[in-house]
Amino acid sequence: MPWSRRSALAVLFTAVVLGSSGVTYAAGDAARGKELSYTCLGCHGIESYKNVYPTYSVPELVGQHPEYLAAALKEYRSGERSHGTMHQQAASLSDQDIEDIAQYFAGPVLKPGTTTVGTPPPKVAQLCVACHGTDGVGIMGDYPTLAGQHADYLARALVEYKKGDRKNPVMPSFMTGVTDAEVQEIADYYSRQTPALRTEPRRATILSAQ
Ligand code: HEC
Ligand code: HEC
Repeated sequence: MPWSRRSALAVLFTAVVLGSSGVTYAAGDAARGKELSYTCLGCHGIESYKNVYPTYSVPELVGQHPEYLAAALKEYRSGERSHGTMHQQAASLSDQDIEDIAQYFAGPVLKPGTTTVGTPPPKVAQLCVACHGTDGVGIMGDYPTLAGQHADYLARALVEYKKGDRKNPVMPSFMTGVTDAEVQEIADYYSRQTPALRTEPRRATILSAQ
C-alpha cells in the first residue's frame, strides 16, 4: 500500500479511536492508567507497606480525588515535592500518563458522609473543615481526602508542612501554632473517618494477567 494511503488510514484510525473515547481520554483513561501502574503497585498495592528512613506508611490512593493525585505526581516530577523514589517514579511520565494513572488509582471517588467517628479536635473544627470536611473528604478535587488515610503518613505530611520541607502555597499557613501533640490528635482523628481511602486491591488481577 502506498505510504500516503497508509498514513491517511492511520490518521483516520486515530481519529476514530480518539473520537469514540474522546471525553474520557481527556479526563484520564483508567484502563491505560492500569497498564502504566504496574510498578506502582509494588508499594501502593500492598496493605501497610512502609517507607524506610524515616519509617511511615505509603499513602493509600484509592478513593482519592484524581485532580489531587495528578497534582501530587506533577509536584514529584518537578521536584516541588521532594521524595527520591517518587521523583524517579514520576520523572518519565507525561501529563497524559499522569491523568490516566490518577483516574485508575482514584477509582470511585469518596463522597462526603453525614456522620463523624468521634468528636473533631478543636483545631480541625477551627482550621481544616473548610477544605478537608469534618469527615475528611476533601470538598473539591484539589483538596486531598484524608479520611481513612494512615495516621503516621498524615502526621508526617503535617510535620513536613510545618517545617517547610513540603512546600505548598496553602497548607503551611494553617500549621502555624499547631503543636506536635495536636498533629498527632488530628492525624488520629482523620485516619479513623469513613468512608475511608483504601490501598489498591487489584494487584492479584494484574499479576494473574501476566
Ligand atoms: C518504592 C515504593 C513506591 C513506589 C514504587 C511508588 N510509590 Fe508513590 N509513594 C511512595 C511513598 C513512600 C510516598 C509518600 C512520599 C512522601 O512522603 O511524599 C508516595 C506518595 C505517592 C503519592 C502522593 C499521595 C498523597 O496522598 O499525597 C502519589 C499520588 C503516588 N505516590 C503515586 C505513585 C504512582 C502513580 C507510582 C507509580 C508510577 C508510585 N507512586 C510508585 C512509595 C512508592
Ligand atoms: C484552604 C484549604 C485548606 C485548608 C483550610 C486546609 N488544607 Fe490541608 N490541604 C489543602 C491543599 C490544597 C492540599 C494539597 C497540598 C499539596 O499539594 O501539598 C492539602 C494537603 C493536606 C494534607 C496532605 C494530604 C496528603 O495526602 O498528602 C494534609 C494531611 C492536610 N492537608 C491536613 C490539613 C489540616 C490538618 C488542616 C487544618 C489544620 C488543613 N489541612 C487545612 C487545602 C487546605
